[in-house]
This record gives sequence, structure tokens and C-alpha cells, in this order.
Amino acid sequence: MSTIAVTGAASGIGAAVCRHLEAAGHTLIRVDLRDADVNADLSSAAGRQAAVEQTLSACNNRLDAVVACAGVGVTAPSVGLIVGVNYFGVSEYLDGLEDALAASGNGKAVIIGSVAGSHMVATPHPMAAAMLEGDEAKAYQLAEESANPSAAYAASKYAVTVFGRRKSVEWGKRGMRLNIIAPGAVETPLHKASLDDARFGEAVKNFVAPMGRAGVPDEIADGVDFLLSDQSAFVNGSVLFIDGGMDAMVRANTF
Ligand code: NAI
Repeated sequence: MSTIAVTGAASGIGAAVCRHLEAAGHTLIRVDLRDADVNADLSSAAGRQAAVEQTLSACNNRLDAVVACAGVGVTAPSVGLIVGVNYFGVSEYLDGLEDALAASGNGKAVIIGSVAGSHMVATPHPMAAAMLEGDEAKAYQLAEESANPSAAYAASKYAVTVFGRRKSVEWGKRGMRLNIIAPGAVETPLHKASLDDARFGEAVKNFVAPMGRAGVPDEIADGVDFLLSDQSAFVNGSVLFIDGGMDAMVRANTF
């Protein structure tokens, strides 16, 4: 059985991922803001460093997998927070655990991205470019200046997907695998907060997948199960859309 770190473990998709992995007998290191095995704030560099150190100590520097679920949506208290958690909270956490994942022999990771990551209006986008350059201060500044949570969210998910795909090339050479899941709308507290928000509620309500419903967290956890299993032994650097056909609806000609 494996030792697996899951960020955003306290709610929504992360909680469902934990239920699945625990039922399969794996040992979990739950990471979240509170009430977790590792309590840390992934929005700040200090919090991310603490999260890495505590995770390394919990797994004795040998980790089989990471599932990076922690994220904030368009209703986050500040636009900069979207950049800090959704991009740097994933990239720096994974970077910090890379050697521990390598030590397991065939470390794996799954990043929870979003269909929103493929809906960038302009690519390359300055905000996404700053994230990919590792320039957190600039990305924060651009996000705050834009004052557009939807743009910051799309940029963070685009950038974290590109980060994951680039990493998968390096990791593949070391016998490790990294994949991204791009969920469509999934019934979680994050999704409900968007639906209930006067600024975004109408657009979120009208953005319905061809299958006519939102997904449930277990359907994303099923994808994680597959990407961490030997059934996906040759799957690396992929973006798995679990979205009821939403991505196909928006951009059928691009894949
Ligand atoms: P959620 O709000 O139910 O869970 C997110 C978890 O992340 C919470 O437990 C929260 O405490 C944790 N978190 C937030 N900020 C943190 C921080 N600074 N440090 C540590 N932990 C922090 O949300 P949900 O829906 O389960 O989202 C999980 C992931 O799925 C996110 O990355 C989100 O962007 C992504 N996603 C969600 C979709 C949806 O419709 N629910 C659609 C597409 C992607």
C-alpha cells in the first residue's frame, strides 16, 4: 500500500479523493488549512515551505503520490489568493516533494486543474506567464490590477496545467508520472459559492455541460484512482477532462 499526500483534503473533491484512497488501504497525509495531518496555508511561501517540511517528516522522505486538490474559486476573498493557492500552492509543494517521490521508485502526482484552464482568452497571458516564470509578486500584482477573478482563475488553471505538463517530461525520464484532471462544474462548496454569488451566479448556472448536470466529487476521485493505479502505467502528461463534455462543447477542434 502507498503513502499519499492530498492537499485540500478537508472538503469537496479532496475529501472524496481521501475517502477513495483510504478505502483502498492507502496511508494518507491530509493537508489543509486546519483539522488535517498537515495544517498549512498554501497561499504563502512560508506556508508552502511548512507544508513541504511537515509532509516530508510524516512520510520519512519517501512518498508514493501527491494529489494536489487545494484551490480557491472566483469568490476568493482576494484575486491574489487565486494565484497563490491555485498555482504556487501546487507548483512549490510538488517541487518540494519531488525527491521524496523519486525515492519511492515510481512516484506519481495528479493535479486538479479545471476546464477553465483551456478557456483563456489570450495565450500566452501575462498573468500566466508571470506564474510560469515563478514571479509570484508580479503575478499577484497583475491579478490585483485586473480585478477580474474569472481571468485570474483561468490563468491560474492554465499555468498550473502547463507546469504539470512540463514537469511530466522531466518526471517521465525518472520513472515518475504526473497527470492533470480538468473537472467541469462539480457540486462542492466552491461551486456553490460561485452559484450563490451575485457577480458570477447567472453565468455559472448557464454554463451547463452537454450531459445536462454538474459532476459529483466521487466522479473526479474515480479519475484520480485511475491515474494513480497501474492501469494508467503509460499515462503521463495527460489532461483528463472529467466534465460531462464541456470542453468538447467549447472547443471541439482543439485538443
Ligand atoms: P472546496 O472549496 O470544496 O475544497 C477546497 C479545499 O482547499 C478546502 O478544504 C480548502 O480549505 C482548501 N484550501 C483552500 N485554500 C487553501 C490554502 N491556502 N491552503 C491550504 N488549503 C487550502 O473546493 P473543490 O471544488 O473541492 O475544489 C478542489 C479543486 O478542484 C480546486 O483546485 C478547484 O479549483 C478545482 N475545481 C473545482 C471545480 C468545481 O466545480 N467544484 C471545477 C474545476 C476545478
